[in-house]
Parts: sequence; structure tokens; C-alpha cells
Amino acid sequence: MVGLVYFSSGSGNTARFVAALGLSAMRIPLRSSDPMPMPDRPYVMICPTYADGEGRGAVPKQVIRFLNDEARRAGLRGVIGAGNRNFGQTYALAARVIADKCRVPVLYRFELAGTPTDIARVRDGLKKLQEMECLTV
Ligand SMILES: Cc1cc2nc3c(=O)[nH]c(=O)nc-3n(C[C@H](O)[C@H](O)[C@H](O)COP(=O)(O)O)c2cc1C
Repeated sequence: MVGLVYFSSGSGNTARFVAALGLSAMRIPLRSSDPMPMPDRPYVMICPTYADGEGRGAVPKQVIRFLNDEARRAGLRGVIGAGNRNFGQTYALAARVIADKCRVPVLYRFELAGTPTDIARVRDGLKKLQEMECLTV
């Protein structure tokens, strides 16, 4: 199965989304003193946005630290953005920033902890991605 790596702050929305998916996932820790996960297979990143008014700082620092490592970056197949449409232009901006920098697609975007429809779509999409991975190995 394609792996999942996610970040979630104290508010825990993304963590709730991942729990609802019911798939195994690695969590990027909140604190820089805690060990970073090292995925052992291709994975999709799920990342919330924390931008300021100008769109700066969209990607959480710990996610930047995680992706600054070439070996970790090599396994990234796509990114799913979490956010809140109230933020307008910067809705789920972190996913776009990561996609541009790492040259992977934005696979999906959802608000807060997602809806049952979001969960079903993401589960479906991950299954399809898995089938594609099988064809390319
Ligand atoms: C300070 C702050 C800035 C935020 N900026 C954005 C933003 O620019 N775009 C967006 O889509 N969501 C933004 N959000 C909303 C979060 O991405 C959203 O609440 C998300 O579900 C948080 O995930 P988490 O609880 O797993 O950390 C912001 C939230 C906070 C607290």
C-alpha cells in the first residue's frame, strides 16, 4: 500500500481526518526534538496550511524539515492539502507550495477534518494510486 505521512497541530483536524481514513500513517512530530519518521515506501503527504495574511509560512516548519531530506523527498508521490476556505486565496496553499517545490501533484484538498465524502474520495484515490505504483514497479 502507498504510505501516508501527515502533520497536524494541536487542533488535531488533520489527525482526525487520518484516523477516519483508517489507514496506517506516519505523523510528523510537532516538536523538533522528537524523531522524524522515515518512510520505507512511496507515500502521500497530508498537510494543513498555516499562512499569514500574505501567504507566508504556509508550510509548517516541521514539514519543511521533513522534506529537506533528499531520501524522504524521493518517496513523495503526491500531496493532499488541508485548510479552511475562509482563508480565500491561501486555501490549502501549503499543498501547492509542496507540489511546486517537489514536482508532485496536488491530489486533493479538504477543509478542517474533512467530510465523509472527502474520506471516501481520498480512500478511493489512494487505491488507484496504489494500482499505478504496482504497474510502474
Ligand atoms: C494561524 C492559522 C493560519 C491559517 N492559515 C490558513 C491558510 O492560509 N489557508 C488555509 O486554507 N487554512 C489556514 N488555516 C486553517 C488550518 O489549515 C485548518 O484549521 C487545518 O484544519 C488545521 O489542521 P490541524 O488541526 O491538523 O493542524 C490556518 C489556521 C491557523 C490557526
